[in-house]
Amino acid sequence: MNLKKIQTKTGYISMTVFAIFIGVYPIVFANIPIGNTLLASKPPDLIANKLYLFTFYTHIFLGGLALLTGFSQFYKKLRRKRLGLHKILGKIYVISVLLSGTAGLVIAFFATGGIITALGFGGLAILWLYTTANAYLSIKQGKIEAHQRWMIRSYALCFAAVSLRIYLPLFLGVFRMDFIPAYQIIAWLCWMPNILVAEFLIVRRLKPAS
Ligand code: HEM
Repeated sequence: MNLKKIQTKTGYISMTVFAIFIGVYPIVFANIPIGNTLLASKPPDLIANKLYLFTFYTHIFLGGLALLTGFSQFYKKLRRKRLGLHKILGKIYVISVLLSGTAGLVIAFFATGGIITALGFGGLAILWLYTTANAYLSIKQGKIEAHQRWMIRSYALCFAAVSLRIYLPLFLGVFRMDFIPAYQIIAWLCWMPNILVAEFLIVRRLKPAS
């Protein structure tokens, strides 16, 4: 096995493990009191607002579903052997992103950490919706290469949920930062490098294997 193959395999395994762990993480919210979650940092009148809570839970559970349905779509063998399954999972992914991304955009206005965090998450939500819509529209027009490129971008942004949960303990535990400044930085850092990784993967895919 050459180096590129080893890197690709390691990448696929890491993507799968992280997607499953973080994808099921929102279930935690169904099993622990609100006071022990991020919602505890919110003003009481906000968490008493049923519409906000509905939007918040729509975001986290469908975000989890997007992570769980997205990773297997990149497995070439699965696409070749089970095209029907690929299409079904793809539709579930697109609908999940549409709802979770729109809900994410709404709850971004109330994000802990104020305007810096709100703009970070808001920008992520808009790009997530934009890249996913492009992925959907391109496959509807039969443009397979463009569809694959947009899906790589969309899922790299979806992985912001994973990056955030890696950076947060790092910033709080290792760098010993206070929660608010750490959260403000991470609201941007959780997705900006992901875009570069996506572009790198797209360019790498286009090169013939050596
Ligand atoms: C990629 C686009 C995403 C955007 C724009 C986004 C945005 C947000 C925002 C604004 C919040 C609230 C932060 C606050 O109030 O301080 C949040 C929280 C949360 N999001 Fe997302 N999110 C995204 C993806 C995901 C995905 C894919 C998941 C799946 C696991 C997810 C799961 C959560 C969870 C569990 C929380 C609650 C906070 C926590 O306990 O960590 N998000 N998200």
